[in-house]
Amino acid sequence: MPSLTSTRALLAAFGLAAAMATAQAQTAANMKLPNVTILATGGTIAGTGATSTTTVGYTAATVGVDTLIKAVPELQKVAHVSGEQVFQIASENMGNEQWLALAKRVNALLAKPDVDGIVITHGTDTLEETAYFLDLVVKSRKPVVLVGSMRPSTAMSADGPINLYNAVITAGSQDAVGKGVLVVMNDQINAARDVTKTNTTTTDTFKTPELGMLGYVIAGQPHFYRAALRKHTADTEFDVSSLNALPQVDIAYTYANVGPVAVNALVAAGARGLVHAGVGDGSLPAKVRPALSAAREKGVIVVRSSRVGQGIVARNGEANDDQLDFVVSDTLNPQKARILLMLALTKTGSTKEIQRMFYTY
Ligand code: DGL
Repeated sequence: MPSLTSTRALLAAFGLAAAMATAQAQTAANMKLPNVTILATGGTIAGTGATSTTTVGYTAATVGVDTLIKAVPELQKVAHVSGEQVFQIASENMGNEQWLALAKRVNALLAKPDVDGIVITHGTDTLEETAYFLDLVVKSRKPVVLVGSMRPSTAMSADGPINLYNAVITAGSQDAVGKGVLVVMNDQINAARDVTKTNTTTTDTFKTPELGMLGYVIAGQPHFYRAALRKHTADTEFDVSSLNALPQVDIAYTYANVGPVAVNALVAAGARGLVHAGVGDGSLPAKVRPALSAAREKGVIVVRSSRVGQGIVARNGEANDDQLDFVVSDTLNPQKARILLMLALTKTGSTKEIQRMFYTY
């Protein structure tokens, strides 16, 4: 019959063994956590308002990346997270200079074997544009996830923390590898090429209206149901590593009663490319067509897009693109067509080649 003392010693030993096993399991689990870098650029997700009910009229881009990370302690359970404050701006002020700096930093980080994925916190106003630009210039299959919020960090039911948590989970997931640049908000995963901001204030604003989202992030797991078919990231032909500027490309918006003033002014200001945000299937009003033809004759590349937002702008549909030597944007909205045209112009001035690019990316 073992003595009481030896029984206690045995139980203590079991307890210690159990504690050590748990600690080892925790350490093993911790070692398996992905390394995710958060690049913070500003926006509402870093915004603050005067009261908990201030969801408009707040100040964007005031909270630093370390505070954003500390505000979501659950991040530590799903990834080894590090943060860099690359900018602190409202995203309506995002521009080519920031895009080039961000792309170079992303590519430098993703080239490091100890970086598994990147999250970029960003204002929602131009988030879709930054996402598509990176989709065309990131040279890696590792996940890059853009995330923002529609309510500032100080608001009741702020959406930033859960959006950031879901974005980090997705950026650290093997399932997101090779899927291109992603936008994760409102528990949904959208592809950079086709996602767009559809509402000025609501938290479900980012949608891919007709072509559809890629999946969901639910209960700490990403679930993919589809993938983007157009080329992106590691398959891109574009390289910005040696660029310090991008060609000037602008957008001329069309509406009833429009005249040629905007087109002429943009060309006079030095645009090398012009995206026409036409009505309907990219229709050219009679007062604008001559100005666009004149622009083409001066060497400006003209892309017919549409303000409608969904659907294909068909080549030689509403205009004889072969005769005018114009390019059509396929399904890209004007702001995304501008991005692809800018990058295309870093490679070629051939409309045939540029049209190929619009059917490839
Ligand atoms: N100023 C806007 C921006 O930074 C706020 C919108 C937002 O981030 O949700 O994009």
